[in-house]
Amino acid sequence: MSIYFINKLIVAFVVALSIFTAVRFVGEQFFPDKPIGEFAYVVDISTSADIVSDSDIESPSSSNDVSPTNTTTVSAISSPQSFGDLIRQSDASAGEKQTAICRACHSFIKGGPTMLGPNLWDIVGRDKASMAGYTYSPAFQALSGAWTFDDLDTFLENPGQYATGTKMSYAGVKNDADRAALIAFLRLQADAPSPLPNN
Ligand code: HEC
Repeated sequence: MSIYFINKLIVAFVVALSIFTAVRFVGEQFFPDKPIGEFAYVVDISTSADIVSDSDIESPSSSNDVSPTNTTTVSAISSPQSFGDLIRQSDASAGEKQTAICRACHSFIKGGPTMLGPNLWDIVGRDKASMAGYTYSPAFQALSGAWTFDDLDTFLENPGQYATGTKMSYAGVKNDADRAALIAFLRLQADAPSPLPNN
């Protein structure tokens, strides 16, 4: 190995080291090393009550229990009105106005045509993904049971989350009262509307 080759190696090494140091220096100007605590998002544990499951809510808890399993705490933090209340108070004709966007893909009348999405006549209480002759996505074919008020509520709030991979490309109705009105309208599109939920 000639001295020139070794010399070249050393030069290459020094150049690489300088580039590395320079890049690191520039990087640090943008992303300074700060202790994680200064940047970390502080999770407000009071809202974690929203995600307790029904079984937690039903578990017996003493009256001075301050844990999120306490039923009073949960109802005070989550929406003040139950979904049943919302749907009872809602105006189906306001819900009908919201279907303007749904009508790009759905018909609502009895025997209405299949469009991009299935016909939605009598959807409350109808088995999920059950319209004859309509090809549902695999995500929808995997669903089971009938559409309850609660299922429709969860689905319409965020279709992609309810059935990941659904071909219903629609972001969802985020406002609780709007969704309740929409479902109140859906309920009436039936020969015998399902009884209102009593929760
Ligand atoms: C861009 C088109 C599109 C829009 C807009 C849309 N949908 Fe859908 N919807 C679909 C498709 C497609 C499916 C079938 C989903 C699948 O197979 O993954 C579907 C499925 C459904 C189902 C389930 C039907 C069944 O037979 O199980 C309901 C309920 C529904 N949509 C309600 C609505 C409502 C209410 C709106 C308006 C707020 C709406 N959709 C807006 C395309 C749409």
